Amino acid sequence: MNEPIILAIESSCDDTSAAILQGRRVLANVIASQDVHKKYGGVVPELASRAHQQNIVPVVDNALKESGLTKRDLSAIAFTRGPGLLGSLLVGTSFVKGLALGLNIPLIEIDHLQAHILAHFIDSGGNNVPAFPFLCLTVSGGHSQIVLVRDYFDMEIIGKTIDDAAGEAFDKSAKILGLPYPGGPLIDKLAAEGDALSFNFPKPKIQGFDYSFSGLKTSFLYFIRDELKNNPLFIEENKVNLAASIQRIIVEVLMDKLIKASKELQINQIAVAGGVSANSELRKQIMLGQAKYGWQSFIPPFNFTTDNAAMVGIAGYYKYLKKEFIGLDFAPYARALHKS
Ligand code: KG4
Ligand code: ZN
Repeated sequence: MNEPIILAIESSCDDTSAAILQGRRVLANVIASQDVHKKYGGVVPELASRAHQQNIVPVVDNALKESGLTKRDLSAIAFTRGPGLLGSLLVGTSFVKGLALGLNIPLIEIDHLQAHILAHFIDSGGNNVPAFPFLCLTVSGGHSQIVLVRDYFDMEIIGKTIDDAAGEAFDKSAKILGLPYPGGPLIDKLAAEGDALSFNFPKPKIQGFDYSFSGLKTSFLYFIRDELKNNPLFIEENKVNLAASIQRIIVEVLMDKLIKASKELQINQIAVAGGVSANSELRKQIMLGQAKYGWQSFIPPFNFTTDNAAMVGIAGYYKYLKKEFIGLDFAPYARALHKS
């Protein structure tokens, strides 16, 4: 069988990415990150869409070059329709409309959060994939969810954050420590040198499978503010231990609900997805679940954890098989629409 060649575009937040997939294999996955937001301590939507405008053509060209293919080889274009920043999504959606029209090939709309989950099905060389149904902890800068995945596009959110997302908890804690945005990866790096049991902070008590992180952030902030009154060098002297401790607690909070969900639903296929799934402590704890709880655990390859177009491409592949195409008369959506 001739495997379809899919160009995939991701532009929902501050990364412009294009990927080329042949079937489930990734031939190219180019990501242009936007450094312009660093000095503002967070993503500035207006600047993000402007940078997407500048990046999208070279990123697509580079992906094609890397794959050794040309536009004429493409079977379809998959793109992120939402959720995300509208100005950013508009750049990607306008671009793909023009390209699909010019090449006369079909368009496939993809939901960003489903794409994060479906990244597990990328063929990275004979890797195992989760069996349905599985539970996926989807943790990013905008979302924290436990998703019951019954099939590729049959997903149900069974738990979600009632305030901050896990990525925000990392980024805001990092900001309190004086680290630049996005601080999640920096906390991870510092934590590797620190003692995770040095400090303790109260964990939220939330019903069911839902999450909350705003209380944890506040107690971290107040604790540090009080310590700084006695010792202005408190952060400097304790940075690695503070990073390791807050990381341990965020990961414990994430794991507690995932363990509870796996027990109550009696599902032992466990996956993790989204930008925070790059976190080394979370990856370690998910893998330890195999010995501790009899799980079969799945962590995505590191390259496919934070925002990238390859995950959009693999989701596009499964829709291509079902011939689920979309016409040109659609608009992007900012907020999650689908069930997951
Ligand atoms: O999925 P993603 O790239 O973008 C969104 O869709 O939000 O996730 C970005 C989030 C940021 O909050 C970032 O700090 C966090 O993922 N992140 C990490 C790590 N790498 C990325 N958080 C903790 N440890 C990491 N290694
Ligand atoms: Zn994402």
